[in-house]
Amino acid sequence: MRFEPSGPLGGVLQAPPDKSISHRAALLAAMSRRPVTIRRYLDSADTRRTLEAIARLGAEVGIEPEDRGLTVSVEGVGLRGPRQDLELDVGNAGTLIRLLAGWLAAQDGASYLLDGDESIRRRPMERVADPLRLMGAQIGTAEDGRPPLRISGSRLGGIDYEMPIASAQVKSALLLAGLVADGPTTIREPGPTRDHTEIMLRSAGVEVSSEARTALPTAPPPMRVKVEGNTRGHLELPDLSIAGDLSSAAFHLVAGLLVPGSLVRVEGVGLNPTRVGLLGILTRMGAAIEIEETGHQAGELIGTITARHGELRGTRVSGAEVPLAIDELPLVALLGSFAEGDTVVSGAEELRHKESDRIASVVTGLSALGAEIEAAADGFIVTGAGGLPGGRIDAAGDHRIAMLGAIAGLASRGGVAVEGVEAAGVSYPGFESDLAMLVR
Ligand code: S3P
Repeated sequence: MRFEPSGPLGGVLQAPPDKSISHRAALLAAMSRRPVTIRRYLDSADTRRTLEAIARLGAEVGIEPEDRGLTVSVEGVGLRGPRQDLELDVGNAGTLIRLLAGWLAAQDGASYLLDGDESIRRRPMERVADPLRLMGAQIGTAEDGRPPLRISGSRLGGIDYEMPIASAQVKSALLLAGLVADGPTTIREPGPTRDHTEIMLRSAGVEVSSEARTALPTAPPPMRVKVEGNTRGHLELPDLSIAGDLSSAAFHLVAGLLVPGSLVRVEGVGLNPTRVGLLGILTRMGAAIEIEETGHQAGELIGTITARHGELRGTRVSGAEVPLAIDELPLVALLGSFAEGDTVVSGAEELRHKESDRIASVVTGLSALGAEIEAAADGFIVTGAGGLPGGRIDAAGDHRIAMLGAIAGLASRGGVAVEGVEAAGVSYPGFESDLAMLVR
């Protein structure tokens, strides 16, 4: 599909529901006993897989379309009640396979096979399998620690674990395993990671303690998170409504920053401090953005973000900022090619382990559009050239690269053809129609 250079963009969008929070809501509802209604559940390929998985595991799942997303009703099976001996297909969903591995590894006597698509089969699983084994889990992987995961559920014991990488998926998998394990589980983050699981577990009646690991004035700091094991048979997740996804809204906001004359506003966006790294990066780049906090939704701060076109300057992104903006770093590369000077992203080796090797796919993709960008082992360097000529980009089956190509097209001089744009449906099915609404 081609995305042609656009005139000024304008309008107000509602952010699509958050992918990370939707996965967690479905899983925690399945661990509850009381029926749970989830409003504004993300209707995407990834989060549909989570609904299928919990239904296979024995939860009663009702689905009704609503204006933005789905209303999902779940009657769960409790923490120890999932149906045993199943093969589950997670599709493209890394969050799902890792969080499920934690919960299911603790189901004593049950066996599970977790598998997914080609992209999932390239993603590293030892990061969850290793610490789960330390808890007593029996987990086999394919060559190189990749899926499929073969899990023989066992009785687990809590651990005190220092995560070698800052990963919310690993932290969440261990917290879920920790709920069913004997004794407390403590997880230490090397850097701050998204805390949606902790917020939702607390709302479901679980005591989760989080303490900052450093006295340095960093916000948000890396945390030490702890749950007590084996204190309950089920969660008590209340009805909830899912906040908007900044990682999805970011594409339209960046379009507003890059296309001359634009003013784009997105409402209902999640502003959880562990997710808003992009906003700090944009501020340093001199972007004209305004952020207005409007309230909370299911314990998550939300607000309205307005983006106006303007000049940008290059910046550096590294260290603790990386996990706070991990899914938005491809957009930082695009912004960098419109900015004055260099934009350097380092310490982001994790990008190599996403739905595609996102260092390679961003560098290859944007180079093909005429960007001056070079890969490093742990990031990339973009030299701003005031814009992009355009060309053809391959989404490489990665939803965020598909959407990156589309936004690059609107802001480019000659338009961009995106190969495999349908990948956007993994996280943002209405992406193209939302974009069309902004084109005046
Ligand atoms: C996610 C955490 C991040 C992020 C992914 C979703 C989550 O991955 O990149 O898109 O829902 O916990 P890691 O925690 O593995 O870095």
